[in-house]
Amino acid sequence: MPLQLQHEGYSEEKLGLLAEKITCRETQASTLLALLGEPDHYTYPSIFIYGHHASGKSHVTECIMKELELPHVTVSCVECVSAGLLFEQVVMGLYGSEATALLPRSSSILDFVRVYKQLSSQEPSYQTRYIILDRAQLLRDMEANLLPGFLRLQELVDDNVTVIFLSEIVWDKFRPSTGCFEPVVLHFPDYNKGELHQILTLDSHPSYSPELYSSFINIMLGVFYSVCRDLRELRHLAALNFSKFCEPLERGEVKETDTHKLWKNIEPHLKKAMQTVYLREVSSVQWEEQQQKEEKEAGALKGLSAYAHVELPYYSKFLLIAAYLASYNPARTDRRFFLKHHGKLKKTNFMKKHEKTSNHLLGPKPFPLDRLLAIFYSVVDNRVAPTASVFSQISSLVTLQLLTQVGHDDQLDAPKYKCAVSLDFIQAIARTLSFDIVRYLYDFL
Ligand SMILES: Nc1ncnc2c1ncn2[C@@H]1O[C@H](COP(=O)(O)OP(=O)(O)OP(=O)(O)O)[C@@H](O)[C@H]1O
Ligand SMILES: [Mg+2]
Repeated sequence: MPLQLQHEGYSEEKLGLLAEKITCRETQASTLLALLGEPDHYTYPSIFIYGHHASGKSHVTECIMKELELPHVTVSCVECVSAGLLFEQVVMGLYGSEATALLPRSSSILDFVRVYKQLSSQEPSYQTRYIILDRAQLLRDMEANLLPGFLRLQELVDDNVTVIFLSEIVWDKFRPSTGCFEPVVLHFPDYNKGELHQILTLDSHPSYSPELYSSFINIMLGVFYSVCRDLRELRHLAALNFSKFCEPLERGEVKETDTHKLWKNIEPHLKKAMQTVYLREVSSVQWEEQQQKEEKEAGALKGLSAYAHVELPYYSKFLLIAAYLASYNPARTDRRFFLKHHGKLKKTNFMKKHEKTSNHLLGPKPFPLDRLLAIFYSVVDNRVAPTASVFSQISSLVTLQLLTQVGHDDQLDAPKYKCAVSLDFIQAIARTLSFDIVRYLYDFL
């Protein structure tokens, strides 16, 4: 039985609608409502709400403001590169865009207080106005007087206004060493498994029964809860995998009640999705497309697909190939590989038979910069080589940890490098350039 929201200032109907939207956050919401009091009451000047990522801070605050129709403005501090921009958004949200003309360019908190005072005396409101600063942890990187100013804004502007801070960081890490006005602190704890289940099942699919969706979420949480408790991520995963879960139902092979078969069907998909939890640079559509492509290409091109995500500039690829060759070929064989007219080389001399151990087993050997460049110009061939950017590309490869710099402690020594990538990797890179690297490797002759 969910907690009933109660408050003198609002109708039961409104509170009922609000309670429906904030599943599992009734306790926090009713504390907050008690703090806010009735619409025209003066409230505590600043309220500090903190809790982990996706614990419903923004959601609950926004629902309260919207459902109870409180005058408010929400500003995300991420979007405000300067304090001036922040003030502008606050003024615009509360008093309309024309009012922002009053703020001078790059305004300070003093300008803001002056303008706010002027505006509030022109447009007095009998209700409390709320300023919600989302991702408030970023305020700490802004001007030093911004946070203390917002904390006691009510007193500074002499208006019925309350500032609500939403943060992922505890208040103790905010407090300036010089001390400041203390806000009321409210904690949003993480959702537990049961609560996550309750919230996730709210998204149930219209064409399937809520019970089916609920059992799907149960399976999902069973798999993912130990590694991921982030509501957003779980929601994304649920949306991605639900259609897969329903495939056998659509084909008519399985009944809704046959949970065992449904589980057997979804298990491999969930296992795969497990590897990419939190690694979502791609949209769900792209991710799915990529999954399908990978399934097709599995096998033969495995090397390539595994490294396809490494995207390097054209010449950097050649530099990396040159570095690989320099690391794994003995220096004396360079003439044989890279000189067009190397004349006659005695085969016996070239192939020292006692050199049985594979260079690949021994690992990469360091090489000087000039050898790398010599090989590079040779493999790039007559394709024009831009000298200016070569050095910067080499240092980029070092930064990317594809090359490592060795033994360059004293400035007199020229730098030496080692190539830090595997044969599979370099073959994948070479393939994108249609460069047959194996032909140039001494070990494979
Ligand atoms: N109790 C809830 N009922 C329904 N949906 C919820 C609930 N709590 C959170 N959500 C949803 O989960 C998502 C994340 O919640 P929200 O944005 O409020 O998190 P947050 O605590 O503000 O996190 P962040 O610190 O990352 O801003 C939102 O899409 C929100 O709608
Ligand atoms: Mg938020």
